[in-house]
Amino acid sequence: MEGPAGTKACPIDFDHESAAHAQAWPEEFAQMRESCPVAWTGHHGGYWVATSYEAVVGVARDAKLFSSEKTFDAATGTGTGGITIPFTPIPRGLPVEADRPEWDSLRGLINRKFAPKAVETFRANARQFATALLNRVIESGEMDLVNDFTGPVPAMVTMELMGLPLKEWRQFADPLHTMVFTPKEAPEYPQVIAGVEWIFQRCAQEFVRYQQEPEQDNLLSYFAHNETNGRKVTLDEVLSLSNNIIIGGVDTTTALTAHALAYLHDHPEAKRELMEDRSLLPFAREEFLRYFTPIHCLARNVSEDTRFKGVEMEHRDRVLLAWAAANRDPEVFPEPDKIDFHRTSNRHVAFGSGIHRCIGSSFARMMFEEMMTQIFERIPEFEIDYTEARRYRSVGTINGWETMPIRFASGPQVACDLHL
Ligand code: HEM
Repeated sequence: MEGPAGTKACPIDFDHESAAHAQAWPEEFAQMRESCPVAWTGHHGGYWVATSYEAVVGVARDAKLFSSEKTFDAATGTGTGGITIPFTPIPRGLPVEADRPEWDSLRGLINRKFAPKAVETFRANARQFATALLNRVIESGEMDLVNDFTGPVPAMVTMELMGLPLKEWRQFADPLHTMVFTPKEAPEYPQVIAGVEWIFQRCAQEFVRYQQEPEQDNLLSYFAHNETNGRKVTLDEVLSLSNNIIIGGVDTTTALTAHALAYLHDHPEAKRELMEDRSLLPFAREEFLRYFTPIHCLARNVSEDTRFKGVEMEHRDRVLLAWAAANRDPEVFPEPDKIDFHRTSNRHVAFGSGIHRCIGSSFARMMFEEMMTQIFERIPEFEIDYTEARRYRSVGTINGWETMPIRFASGPQVACDLHL
């Protein structure tokens, strides 16, 4: 597989950010996995693309050889590394864009706040948010599934987790969703980014406020009152942690739930099966995670010259881990392009693999269950208006739905302490 001296092996014309990839990614990945499971593309300055399960997991599990570290110079807006291709010109997210030993101390600081037991204490709130959001629209018989429901619920749970004021939920949910699908060259992009920056300004303001009050049960207050490596957490670290938790947690769960509901709408028998036997929901959830893989691809930096899966990689090369391709690898998942709620072994990598494996997986699973249950109980039948519904134009990092209008038989509001 090695190319001639000075060239990279397995050259292909591939761009995970392109509209063509968004249209036909399962076929494109199947071909790459077959012919060149680690290939080289010249787009975005050049990068390796790992597509087989073995190669993706091999990169993810070797955090020393494949670094996540990012540098960013705010004065020039330039930097290196990080987990996105192309480079995202904002300060790094933590802990995801740190290597060991820095990663150990930051992940150690937040781990217990994301443990399954801690997550269960948010379930009643998630249910209440889902109930209140449906109360807003249920009498009208129509809503935008993404913008009125699957977007706001994770945003609101994340606000509670962070310790941000819930009444600001709209200002919080909308820019986070819009940022993901708005092309960087679009005229409205600066306004969208201003909305996201506002969120981080609010984090900074609330962090300072929590520093002056006794510790409360939320992350910003926890950061204000606790130490990492025997010292206080700095404001820069708080903003980088908030960035990773908020951006990592919100639109991903939105995308998963929207994909699942669209699939069930299009496959009435699967929907009937799931609604009649709710014990299948956790299996269906894992299968939706595998099949749709909301975080499509992420990147690493090669930290020294190495030979990996038959190709010669050089120090500072970039590598794309195609989680979505790994999750459709027929070597690991029989009939990978089929959704099967009865799949017996489902070792998907939708939450990643290795040290950076998703810390928020229990939150995502819990929020998904609460949203699906509310829809099953209150809007069991709905019609998606596919003439208006829109997928993301680029699925390179997150694969989701921009908008998904639905119609349904109107129903009554139900008792709920929260009025939005
Ligand atoms: C369906 C929903 C979700 C998906 C598909 C997802 C996916 C992922 C993936 C693939 C990674 C690995 C990153 C890497 O290897 O570079 C990751 C890491 C992470 N996720 Fe999630 N995630 C989801 C939900 C959440 C939620 C709800 C939160 C927070 C409330 C969250 C917070 C994080 C954080 C902080 C990391 C970095 C962990 C570390 O570096 O140690 N995620 N996620």
